[in-house]
Order: sequence, then C-alpha cells, then structure tokens
Amino acid sequence: MENLFRLVDQDQDLFQPKWTLVNGPIIVGAGPSGLAAAACLKEQGVPFAVVERADCIASLWQKRTYDRLKLHLPKQFCQLPKLAFPEDYPEYPTKRQFIEYLESYAKHFDINPKFNECVQSARYDETSGFWRVKTVGSNKTELEYICRWLIVATGENAESVMPDIEGLSEFGGDVIHACDYKSGEKFKGQKVLVVGCGNTGMEVSLDLCNHNASPSMVVRSSVHVLPREIFGKSTFELAVLMMKWLPLWLVDKLMLILAWLVLGNTEKYGLKRPSTGPLELKNTQGKTPVLDIGALEKIRSGDINVVPGIKRFSRGQVELFNGEKLDIDSVVLATGYRSNVPSWLQEGEFFAKNGYPKAQFPHGWKGKAGLYAAGFTRRGLSGASLDAMRIAQDIGTVWKEENKQLKKRSIARHRRCISLSQF
Ligand SMILES: Cc1cc2nc3c(=O)[nH]c(=O)nc-3n(C[C@H](O)[C@H](O)[C@H](O)COP(=O)(O)OP(=O)(O)OC[C@H]3O[C@@H](n4cnc5c(N)ncnc54)[C@H](O)[C@@H]3O)c2cc1C
Ligand SMILES: NC(=O)c1ccc[n+]([C@@H]2O[C@H](COP(=O)([O-])OP(=O)(O)OC[C@H]3O[C@@H](n4cnc5c(N)ncnc54)[C@H](OP(=O)(O)O)[C@@H]3O)[C@@H](O)[C@H]2O)c1
Repeated sequence: MENLFRLVDQDQDLFQPKWTLVNGPIIVGAGPSGLAAAACLKEQGVPFAVVERADCIASLWQKRTYDRLKLHLPKQFCQLPKLAFPEDYPEYPTKRQFIEYLESYAKHFDINPKFNECVQSARYDETSGFWRVKTVGSNKTELEYICRWLIVATGENAESVMPDIEGLSEFGGDVIHACDYKSGEKFKGQKVLVVGCGNTGMEVSLDLCNHNASPSMVVRSSVHVLPREIFGKSTFELAVLMMKWLPLWLVDKLMLILAWLVLGNTEKYGLKRPSTGPLELKNTQGKTPVLDIGALEKIRSGDINVVPGIKRFSRGQVELFNGEKLDIDSVVLATGYRSNVPSWLQEGEFFAKNGYPKAQFPHGWKGKAGLYAAGFTRRGLSGASLDAMRIAQDIGTVWKEENKQLKKRSIARHRRCISLSQF
C-alpha cells in the first residue's frame, strides 16, 4: 500500500487522466477468454475489473463474423468453465446460440465489463509494483487503472490482416475483409474473388455459391482440408482420442488416410496439401486445418473456382500468378487475423513481437510481475478455458493467503485494543 501512495503521489497532476485502483486483477477483453477468466476468479472469491473496447461482450462473434457461422468443433469442446451449454443445443451450436450462451454466462457469474474502453497502453511500474493500464473511451475520456495483476484476453483475432496487393486501390469494385462479410445476399449474380482458403475463405465461398454468386477462391500455397466428421464421428474428437495413445506423427498420418478415404485426393482440385501433417502444422505454425462443411463439394462441381496466387489488380480485373486474367466485381479478403498485444502492452519478455506468448503451450499463460495471458494457445475455446482456470487458481491462492494474513493481523490489533482498553 505504501508503494501505491508513492505511485499516486508522484503523478498527482490535474492534467493527468483520472485513475482507479482495481482491487484484484484487471482483465483486458470481454470475449470468451476474458469471461472465462472472470468466472473462474469469481469462484475463487477474487474481485476483478473487465475492460472492453466494444459496446458488448464477445464482439468478435457479435460484430465481426458472418451469419451462417456455426462452431466447427462439437459443443463439449467449446463450452467455458463452470457452465455447460444448454442440453437442447445441437452438436454444433450456431453463432446466435453461442452468443446467447455467452450472454447467459456473463449474467450467471455477474460479470459487468466496462464497455467502450480501449486499452491504449499497459506497463509495469517497478517502483510501486503495480500495473498501470490506460484506456480511452468512445468519447475520448482517458482513464488509468492501477492494479497488481494484468490478464491479457484480447484474443488471437483482435485485428484483421489486410494484405498490401499491387493495384488493389485501382480495382474500383467493393473490397471488404471477411470480418465485414455477413451473407452472400448482396453479392447475388456477382463474380467475387475470395482471397484466402482457411476456414473463413472456404465458408464465405460456399455461402456465395448458396446466394447465386460466382466465387473464385485464391489458394496461394497449400492447405489441409479434413472432413468435419469421419464415419459419423467428429474428426477433432477422433484426433483427441488418438492422441491419448499414439504419437503425433502417427495420428497425422492416420488423419490423412481417413481424410483421403472420405474426401478423395484434394490436390487434383488445386488444394495442395502442406508437407507437414495437420496437427503438427497447427502446433508449430498455428495454421488451422480446414474442416469441410460443404465447400469441397462445390469445388468438385466447379461452382467454386480455385485459382492460384495474385500478381496484381487492375480496374475490374485480377491477374494471377499463372498469367490468367479474371474479370471480377468484388473482393472478399479472407486473409486472417492477428493479435494486437504489441500495440499496447509495453513489455518484451513474456510476449513476442507477433503478439503471442513466447513460451509454447502449456507454459504461455503466466509471465512475471502478475502478468497473465488467456486465449493465446492456438487451441480455440478449450485452450482459453484451460488458461482461465490456471490463472484464477494462481491468483486465488495468493489472494486467499494474503487475506488470511490480513485477518490475523486485524484480530491481533483488535485484541491489543481490547487489552489496552482494560487499563
Ligand atoms: C470466424 C471465426 C470462427 C471461429 N470459430 C471457432 C470455433 O468454432 N471453435 C473455437 O474453439 N474457436 C473458434 N474461433 C477462434 C476464436 O477466436 C475463439 O474461439 C474465441 O473467440 C477466442 O476468444 P477470445 O476471448 O480469446 O478472443 P475474442 O473473441 O477475439 O475476444 C477478445 C476481446 O478483446 C477485445 N479487445 C481487443 N483489443 C482490446 C483493447 N486494446 N482494449 C480493450 N478490449 C480489447 C475485443 O474487442 C474482443 O471483444 C473462431 C474464430 C473466428 C474468427
Ligand atoms: N466455423 C468455424 O468455426 C470457423 C470459421 C472460420 C474461421 N474459423 C477460425 O478462425 C481463425 C481464422 O481463420 P481464417 O480462415 O479467417 O484465417 P487463416 O486460417 O489465417 O487463413 C488465412 C488465409 O488467407 C491466406 N492469405 C493471407 N494473405 C494472403 C495474400 N496476400 N494472398 C493470398 N492469400 C492470402 C492464407 O494463405 P497462406 O496459408 O498461404 O498464408 C490463408 O489461406 C482460425 O482459427 C479458424 O479456424 C473458424
């Protein structure tokens, strides 16, 4: 506490932003990871504050995803700690159902984030031993939070990746990132270039087909396409099961054989497979395999045209690496997302320049001086839940120990007072 007064004294300036002392940790981000961390802290009896740049929880899901989206892993792998999905939810809940679940989750654990507050900077003050987290609100109000623990939960998908492709500014038609794509309705009858063939690129292309548009999907390198289910069982679940008994390289081999049995040879449609297996690629480079939910069928039938990398754009046209020129009306950049941590966290030991913790899973959840990361494991919602439980357990242990000490001290003081009052 003495340290805290020192920190506050040195900055008492009328022109400084307002500051608030947070009793407990501050959680940055009210997505699934931030909510899970908050719920687990609540269970440990640790108070906290959550700050969120958007005006709602789970802003990625509410504002930056397309309408047809469903969870692509079975629900048991996507629920957050301490509260299961409602029993009547299907195996793969829709985006709407997932948002409803998250809203009821926040309500159940009485989590009330401070909305419209974007964290601009956070740094550890060595002198005081506290984190100083500065936010700016939608009305430009600046605030500073002072806290002992900082939980980074801003996600792996905080910002859209917008590639700089030659001639794109001269193209003339609509160019949007997939985070602004809602449905193929407004592209009806159009020739659309979808740049990228991850899960988003594939699903956007499928959605465009279903709305009578003509998508061409750019595959500039390679991609692992796996069926979402193999012989009626979730491919992901099957991989998790096999990983219990077999080494990763063997599971990768078996997955590829099973994928070949179900999907056939995908290379003949322009979908070259990476030389590294799907699970190894995910673990080492974070590249998610595509879980097919129908796009491959449309590729086979020619409704989705697979094309190689882009050379340049010109007015109403794209030129590809093979020299082919295509007339197009619109472009959807399904080029992925990135973490924004380096833009605001002033720290270089725990987080790498790419915005992910340097330590590999399962070690990337705890840094030094009360710094934590939730949701950066490249393991989706199940990885986020694991982080949240570990973090809350860790902080909870310190919190309870300190409270015990405090209680002891106050009982001793009380006793001293009583014995003094007897004189
Ligand atoms: C289209 C799509 C579909 C997906 N489907 C699945 C799936 O089926 N299963 C699965 O396991 N995973 C899926 N994922 C991965 C997904 O990112 C995670 O499941 C989940 O959303 C991660 O939660 P998070 O809280 O870590 O990040 P996010 O959901 O991104 O939440 C982070 C929050 O932090 C806020 N924030 C960011 N920067 C700041 C700042 N500076 N100050 C204040 N607040 C800030 C954001 O506004 C956001 O609300 C999908 C991702 C995408 C893009
Ligand atoms: N149903 C679901 O649950 C669902 C749906 C969508 C997304 N997701 C998840 O959301 C996350 C993000 O997925 P995503 O598909 O948006 O991103 P992604 O997996 O990062 O894929 C990005 C794609 O864009 C390509 N790309 C990037 N820059 C390019 C350029 N300049 N020219 C051509 N191609 C370019 C990449 O090609 P290279 O490989 O060559 O770099 C890659 O194919 C993933 O974890 C994914 O699993 C889940």
